Amino acid sequence: MSTETALDQLKQLTETGLAAIAEASDAAALEALRVQYLGRKSELNGILRGLKDLPPELKGVVGKESNLAKKALESALKERQESLGGGDGASETDPTLPGVRPPVGHEHLLTSTSELILDVFRGLGFSIARGPDVEDDYHNFEALNIPKDHPARDMQDTFFAAEDIVLRTHTSPVQIRTMKKTPPPIRMVFPGRVYRRETPDATHSSEFHQIELLYVDHGVTMRDLKGVLTQFAQQVFGDDVDVRFRPSYFPFVEPGAEVDISCFLCKGSGCRVCKQSGWIEILGSGMVHPNVFRHVGYDPETVTGYAAGMGVERIAMLRHGIPDIRLFFENDLRFLFQF
Ligand code: PHE
Repeated sequence: MSTETALDQLKQLTETGLAAIAEASDAAALEALRVQYLGRKSELNGILRGLKDLPPELKGVVGKESNLAKKALESALKERQESLGGGDGASETDPTLPGVRPPVGHEHLLTSTSELILDVFRGLGFSIARGPDVEDDYHNFEALNIPKDHPARDMQDTFFAAEDIVLRTHTSPVQIRTMKKTPPPIRMVFPGRVYRRETPDATHSSEFHQIELLYVDHGVTMRDLKGVLTQFAQQVFGDDVDVRFRPSYFPFVEPGAEVDISCFLCKGSGCRVCKQSGWIEILGSGMVHPNVFRHVGYDPETVTGYAAGMGVERIAMLRHGIPDIRLFFENDLRFLFQF
C-alpha cells in the first residue's frame, strides 16, 4: 500500500463517518456508527492493525493520520450524543435501573375543604346547585334587597364587566336564580367563586370561594338555622364546639346574624386564634327578607326561610392554621403538597 492510498482511504472514511454522525437521529443510530467506524471490524481498525506490516517510512505518517481520524470520529460521536440530549447512553437503555416516579398531584385544599363542607350538608338533606360567576346587577344586588345607591353596595366593592354586569360579589344571587325556577320547599347549598375589589393582604383576596345555604318552607325558624349550623360546626371543627349568633346587618335577611363558633383550640379560655375572645366568626346568616321572597314570587305570608354564607378559605385557614389567604392562589407546591 502506498502512502497516498492509505492517506486517501483515511480521508475518505473520516469524511463519510463525520457526515453520518452529524445526521444520526438517535442514540441507537450513533451506536451503530460507532461500531461501523471505530469498532473492531472497522476499516480504521484494519488500517491500525496493518501498521506493523508497513515499511518504516510509511508507519509514522499513516499512524499519525490514523490517530487523528480516530480522535475526530470519537469527538464527533460525543458531541452528537450530547446534542441529542443523551448522557453516556447507558441510562437510557438500562432496564434494571429503578424508574423515575412521575409526579402525581392531588385535590387542592380548597376543593377538599369544599367537599368536606358539602358532605355535611348533603348528609343533612341539602342538594347542590351552582350559578354563574358573571352576574347582572339584578341578581347580585337588586333582587337581594340592595337597591341602587344603597350604602350596603359598598360593603362589597365590585368588579364591573359592563354597565349592570358584575363579577358576583357573593353566592347569594344563586338564591334568587334557584327560587325563581323552583317552588318551595327548597333545601340547597350553592358553592362557588366570588370576586371583590380588594387590596390583597393576609386575609383579603380579590377572588375567593363561598358556600351559600338556603332553606325555605312553611314554618322555618331561626332555631332550625341554629340546629343545622351547630351540626355543621361540630362535624367540621369538633364535637364539643358551640355556636352563637351575634346580631348583624345584611339587606337580604331580617333578622341577620353573624355566627361564631367557640374556639376549638383553647376551648374558650382565650388564645391567639380567637384573639382572646373564646369565639371565632365563621359566617353570615339570617332569615330571608320578605322583599327577597317578593322578588322571586314567593308569598312571604306563607313561607319563611333561612340563608347563610361562608368563606371556604376562612374555614380551611382555621382548620389548618394557615396564616395567609394568598397561599391558596400562589400554587407553590411546597404549600399544596402539605394537604
Ligand atoms: N352574602 C353574604 C356575604 O357575602 C353572606 C350571607 C349570606 C349573609 C346569606 C346572610 C345570609 O357576606
